[in-house]
Amino acid sequence: MDPNTVKPESLAAQSLGWVDPITKAISPAIHASTTFIRDADNQYRNGRSYARADNPAFDQAEQLIAQLERGAQGALFASGMAAATAVFQALAPGDHVIAPKVMYWSLRNWLMNFATQWGLKIELVDMADPAAVRSALQAGRTKLVWIETPANPLWTVTDIAATAALAHAAGARVAVDSTVATPVLTRPLELGADLVMHAATKYLNGHSDLIAGVLVTKADDEFWKRVKTVRAQIGGTLGSFESWLLLRGMRTLYLRVRTASASAQRIAEHFAQHRHVETVLYPGLRDAPGHAVAARQMHGGFGGMLSVRTKGGEAAAIATAAHVQVWKRATSLGGTESLIEHRASVEGAGTPAPPDLLRLSVGIEHVDDLIADLEQALVRAHG
Ligand SMILES: Cc1ncc(COP(=O)(O)O)c(C=O)c1O
Repeated sequence: MDPNTVKPESLAAQSLGWVDPITKAISPAIHASTTFIRDADNQYRNGRSYARADNPAFDQAEQLIAQLERGAQGALFASGMAAATAVFQALAPGDHVIAPKVMYWSLRNWLMNFATQWGLKIELVDMADPAAVRSALQAGRTKLVWIETPANPLWTVTDIAATAALAHAAGARVAVDSTVATPVLTRPLELGADLVMHAATKYLNGHSDLIAGVLVTKADDEFWKRVKTVRAQIGGTLGSFESWLLLRGMRTLYLRVRTASASAQRIAEHFAQHRHVETVLYPGLRDAPGHAVAARQMHGGFGGMLSVRTKGGEAAAIATAAHVQVWKRATSLGGTESLIEHRASVEGAGTPAPPDLLRLSVGIEHVDDLIADLEQALVRAHG
């Protein structure tokens, strides 16, 4: 199978069409070895010496995700956080970094604490507003612009192409946390980004049974080498079995993401005018602030994540979550099962999540069951 001519759905379904040359197996063996033979003349011609730095168990998953993102190379990490923080750790103390005000809270916390203590100058900006990005950029001093789109938990949309053009003009790299969009809906490298990051824990694996992260680079350049060195030396390395699980999960990526997106669109439209709902936040809604940009850079759907702000404030939101039966009350996203959570309770002080907000991760159950269950939960919560 020629990866340059077949469609990405086919690449994912067949894990690049790989067949084991010795056993003819279509699912790869799990390489558990942590160490590799050195040649008799003291060289490592095979390219591998120790599995903290690199491991044949990574090869197919890294190649597949790189191909789906149209990048030069991929690198697996032990978690989404390990992948994201490797990018920041490849910078140097004193570097200026622009990141979104609305973003995955744990990474924002790490940036404002550890990364700041280590010497990065982190500036949080409203990334939905290109003018704000333009005025925050410091030519020659800003080294990285971090984008998350759609961004947790308000699903704010950032224009990747416009932001990348501004960043590049100032000499800064652009990295995109594309966990929610996935390569099924958006390919940030084609829009001008230099790096793409995924919490592979979410849609890429898709079954809520693995913590993993991945980076894909547009170019195999010096910065990418630094990122790989961070992985090898700090040790945020994925295990062999986990790499195998991730590859298996990615086989169904396109089916899962498309089903979740179509259902999320129906759920958003259904509850947007509901008597117990204040507002629904979802980029697929025509009147959503980021809809026009999302429609340009997302193809085939607007993702499986949305938030519902209930009437009746925090108490009504928590009571609604208490009454669901099909939806599962849990954090995380991107699995086959639909999840609901009171986001402000998860994020704590400083969260941009309003107290009446429920974050929904739509899975692949029948959409009628999801709508009926949320409907009865809202009605019971509002007594
Ligand atoms: C958008 C986003 N980025 C990054 C992460 C971090 O991923 P992980 O939990 O695998 O470290 C998450 C986790 O929830 C996320 O939702």
